[in-house]
Amino acid sequence: PPVGDLGGLTVLITAGGTREPIDPVRYISNRSSGKMGYSLAGAAFNRGARVILITTPTSLEPPPGVDVVRVETALEMHDAVMNRYAEADVVIKAAAVADYRPRLKAEQKIKKEGDTLTLELEKNPDILFDLGINKMEGVTLVGFAAETENLIENAREKVRKKNLDLLVANDVTLPGAGFGTDTNIAKLIYPDGSIVSLPLMDKPALANRILDEVIAIRSNHS
Ligand code: PMT
Repeated sequence: PPVGDLGGLTVLITAGGTREPIDPVRYISNRSSGKMGYSLAGAAFNRGARVILITTPTSLEPPPGVDVVRVETALEMHDAVMNRYAEADVVIKAAAVADYRPRLKAEQKIKKEGDTLTLELEKNPDILFDLGINKMEGVTLVGFAAETENLIENAREKVRKKNLDLLVANDVTLPGAGFGTDTNIAKLIYPDGSIVSLPLMDKPALANRILDEVIAIRSNHS
């Protein structure tokens, strides 16, 4: 493995959009491509970290050298993250997790019958919140926030509520930011409410910038 400033640390990263099954052939998902999470995994590995990448299905090749755990649903991602949490020094939650899942998964493919069809949804666990309330001494917890309005207020509330060390907020309505793109535009939001606005960057460059912040946060704490 490469030698670098993350040597000796285990970094757990989540990536991609969860898939919430409706029936054997259909699911509810979102536009996450996994690029942000895979960029973080590659960058952390190149800087010497041991990397655990918990990922939903994407069209991307996981970076070599990374320990890959494959999941589909939010519940599976929740279990996988909780299983590996004790190993992690740093957790970065770039995945887009469904807030709701269909309450029932139909056993058979749903037939085309009525003119309307109602799906009942039930709430998924908030993985990041559960990580925050169980946060161990020395663990650095980084969340993402995908917002379409009131970016700063919503993000400041998430940092506090989820007990995060850093929140990377992207306004997914801006061109070049958010889901599917090769670039992103982010604001770094700290627990004290301070904000650093970053310019448009390639996702790998943003990944390295986030890892620089992680190192700075950890050296301030020690
Ligand atoms: O994958 P790409 O195409 O590269 O796109 C990147 C991205 C836009 C998906 C990424 O940059 C991003 O913003 N990821 C978070 C998307 C999201 O779900 O945001 P949110 O505001 O709904 O959730 C906030 C945080 O809570 C996230 O860290 C999320 O992982 C976490 N969460 C949310 C819901 C839930 N049930 N459990 C969670 O852990």
